[in-house]
Amino acid sequence: MQLSLVASFATVQQPLEQTPEALIVGVFQGEHTICAPFAEEANPILTPLLESSKTFKGKLSDVWVIPSLGRFSAPYIILVGLGAKDKFNAKALRRASAAGVRGAHRHQLTSAVSFLMGRSEALALCHQAQLLAEGAILGNYKFTLRKGKSGTESTLTESNPSTNNRDQNGSYAGLQSLSFYTPNPEAAIQNALTMGEIIAQATTQARNWVFDAANEVTPTFLAQQAMQMAANHPEVLSCTVMDAQDIQRLGMATFEHVSKGSEEPPAFIHLRYTPPPSVASSKTIALVGKGITFDSGGLSLKPASAMELMKMDMAGAAAVIATMGALGELANHPDLPTIAHNIEAFVPACENMPSGHAGRPGDIVTSLAGKTIEINNTDAEGRLVLADALTYAQRQCNPDVLIDLATLTGACVIALGKEAAAIMGTPDISQPLIDDLLKAANAAGEYLWQLPLYDEYKDCLKSEVADLINSGAKGEAGSSKGGVFLQAFVDKTRAWAHLDIAGPAYTGKDWPEVPKGATGYGVRTLLYYLLG
Ligand code: BES
Ligand code: MN
Ligand code: ZN
Repeated sequence: MQLSLVASFATVQQPLEQTPEALIVGVFQGEHTICAPFAEEANPILTPLLESSKTFKGKLSDVWVIPSLGRFSAPYIILVGLGAKDKFNAKALRRASAAGVRGAHRHQLTSAVSFLMGRSEALALCHQAQLLAEGAILGNYKFTLRKGKSGTESTLTESNPSTNNRDQNGSYAGLQSLSFYTPNPEAAIQNALTMGEIIAQATTQARNWVFDAANEVTPTFLAQQAMQMAANHPEVLSCTVMDAQDIQRLGMATFEHVSKGSEEPPAFIHLRYTPPPSVASSKTIALVGKGITFDSGGLSLKPASAMELMKMDMAGAAAVIATMGALGELANHPDLPTIAHNIEAFVPACENMPSGHAGRPGDIVTSLAGKTIEINNTDAEGRLVLADALTYAQRQCNPDVLIDLATLTGACVIALGKEAAAIMGTPDISQPLIDDLLKAANAAGEYLWQLPLYDEYKDCLKSEVADLINSGAKGEAGSSKGGVFLQAFVDKTRAWAHLDIAGPAYTGKDWPEVPKGATGYGVRTLLYYLLG
């Protein structure tokens, strides 16, 4: 469900046109007052409540939903903890915005006005607007696509138009409209809200693809989504999809080796963004996303428990494709910044399945780059599809910057948890790019941590029979070892970063702006990076 956001310039004197169901207000830790145009009337009521509460302390993302019992202009007041005032920053504001929306979910509310803008002196108002929009949409997200389409609930919806906060399936779909009170009514504020909206909506797009089941999100489906995206933005986006025959003809033998165990046809997706003619493009950035729509492990079959969530093994692809969609959306808004780079996305999409057609452990294949690979473990398939995709991307567009996103190793989840992704790249040459991406991730509110690619790790790539082996000693620096394998397919002088997003792509944690399940990790970092 689309959440519509507007900057609201209403004051107490000029009430909002429609009464919202909730007023969202922030409270700093240790303070017992709110700050809003109606604070003078509200604080005498709220302060005693805040002083005596044993549970609401104003800690960041604490939420207290209070029925207003006719004392305010809306049925509910949602108090949101802003945390310590001296620690209040961009990330806190985004999270608080999401927390407020999650508070509205508790009572299945559809409309609210947020009074969280203007609570920081350090952040420009426009920046605050963008963060508030991001947090609100990210926090409002629910995956309801596959909830039963028939049954009593949906009948109820049809017969009762007042339950318009329900999607077509009859389940509550979150807030529908949210206004942000701003002390400074400027067009720039509305633009910043739109910017946040585009970034967050791209993230929720990626979440939907990752959340959805592997029998729906097939390589063909991903290719169709990319084609549709290009068709929606023909001025700046174009898309080419290569099929199994093309893949064979081009010599992507390692990608083919992974894909051939499945009945589902593979697809190699190439999406291009060309800046509008009015802007001269400065450089080319290639994005590569691992698109394994289901990873059974292949003949090196995973145990059932490890396989259960392997529909998420295309999260890198989802992040990359959704990012491209945001570039198309940005181009639709002349008032928003335009990205002046050529951005090319490459997605090798296939399933990794066991069958009589599947590649065998011990097979030796010649990659597109010409290097031979001994495939001792068919479950280390990500690096195989990426090897050919990285080679193809570099040959196709000779990018100044090459970034890949992949749910590559379980080892990364062990190292950094569900909270953070790892970033690595060719020592020295890629460090400036890595630093930029680390900064972007920080600004975007996603955790990213660098792991090393020491030359000595390359010892694990030695094969007795081929140029490389796809899986080395287990239980030792598995993420870096995946990294050095990919490095063998990247030109030595190219700025390249590999993001292993195995942990944060799908989470059991429930952060206000990152609800449980598919997170859309990487979309925000990529967009913040591309937007500079
Ligand atoms: N898709 C998995 C990695 C993964 C694990 C992603 C857990 C998300 C959560 C990848 O293809 C894989 O199976 N990697 C192997 C590599 C090993 C065989 C070298 C792994 O991590 O065990
Ligand atoms: Mn695998
Ligand atoms: Zn995998």
